[in-house]
Amino acid sequence: MSGGLEFDEETSRKVEALYLTPDVVEQRCQVLKALQLREGERILDIGSGPGLLAYDMAASVGPDGRVCGIDISDDMLAMSRKRCANRPWAEFLRAEATKLPYPDDDFDAAVSTQVYEYVADIPAALAELYRVTRPGGRVVALDTDYDSLVIYTGDQPRMERVLSAWDEHFVHGGLPRTLSGQLRDAGFTIRQRDVIPMFNPEYHDNTYARRMLAIMASFVVGRRGVSQEEANAWLAEFSELGKQGKFFFSLNRYLFVADKVAVT
Ligand SMILES: C[S@@+](CC[C@H](N)C(=O)[O-])C[C@H]1O[C@@H](n2cnc3c(N)ncnc32)[C@H](O)[C@@H]1O
Repeated sequence: MSGGLEFDEETSRKVEALYLTPDVVEQRCQVLKALQLREGERILDIGSGPGLLAYDMAASVGPDGRVCGIDISDDMLAMSRKRCANRPWAEFLRAEATKLPYPDDDFDAAVSTQVYEYVADIPAALAELYRVTRPGGRVVALDTDYDSLVIYTGDQPRMERVLSAWDEHFVHGGLPRTLSGQLRDAGFTIRQRDVIPMFNPEYHDNTYARRMLAIMASFVVGRRGVSQEEANAWLAEFSELGKQGKFFFSLNRYLFVADKVAVT
């Protein structure tokens, strides 16, 4: 992730707030539905971040189950441990998606939401995902395709400069369009694919769009020639468009459910 988005304390807090908006709460409901968790199951959460999904999954598997979250950010790990303190069957370790600290066939299900777009070596990460999932187990992966961003602006050249600087925040901006093939190459059988739009045609405070645009405005400063003033002006336009009833934002996330088919 060098040069990309650093999930330090400040960014982790912003991501947590973003992920508490109703848009992302709804996404988590869809991820949980896709996972079809049962009591007593052993679940891996790769890139567990602020622990919001792990917290919900811990409720689904109950104290006879186990939720293991891994992340490379100590600030995110601290947040998830605090969040799940009253569900001690959820535990969190510092580890890389490409080097999972678990034995083969260890989990009934594994999930990774909004993480693989930051991981350089996707074949290595999916090989690890396959290795630690038990035969008959299932996995859920969710990522954004940033080319799906549709946003209204009166200053397209400025928008293009800012979005080009934002490109530096991920490794794979269009991962979903290759993920079916990459999951199959890793050995999985695809069962389900869905698109989850983050659609905000209003500029309200507690929305994905508003919080995401603020994160983007902070990130782009000093990258590809974008100054603080330009980032401020870019962000201020959305507030103005909101007042005029002209704000429009849509960005797609894609959800994949795949099985590690048991060989009989
Ligand atoms: C955008 S957050 C998503 C958090 C969480 N999965 C969710 O959806 O709420 C991305 C997380 O992936 C973690 N991450 C990034 N690269 C990683 C890697 N190579 N291995 C493990 N975690 C990683 C980051 O530290 C961060 O916590």
